[in-house]
Amino acid sequence: MTHCSNCHQSTGEGLSNLYPPIKGSALLKDKAFLSCIIRNGMEGTILVNGKEFNRPMPGNPKLTDIEIAEIVTFVSVKWGKDSVYTPITFVEEALTKCKAR
Ligand code: HEC
Repeated sequence: MTHCSNCHQSTGEGLSNLYPPIKGSALLKDKAFLSCIIRNGMEGTILVNGKEFNRPMPGNPKLTDIEIAEIVTFVSVKWGKDSVYTPITFVEEALTKCKAR
């Protein structure tokens, strides 16, 4: 609600052609990628559920690793068919390896 729903909406369905849906997105399978874009944002053209998006997503440099782990867990369980929590150790490791965007 606080960090993501402005754009992706509380339903996870996104907003028209502006903000892509998180619900059902194949990108949710890559939790390292997810951790990195929550911290650093992303830009470039992407295809989500058959639709193209190309606006930049801002990063959240103030979120701590544990907060990012909680958000990754939330979206993965709610919209990614995941049923386990994402450990902070996984997120810490992923965040050291983020590619520059
Ligand atoms: C200011 C609007 C905005 C906010 C806030 C935002 N996003 Fe995004 N998000 C975007 C846009 C725009 C893209 C597409 C970026 C691109 O085209 O390169 C995107 C892409 C994504 C993607 C990959 C595409 C998809 O739909 O699977 C995921 C996952 C995602 N965001 C999750 C999050 C999460 C989790 C948060 C909260 C921490 C968040 N976003 C906050 C705008 C936002």
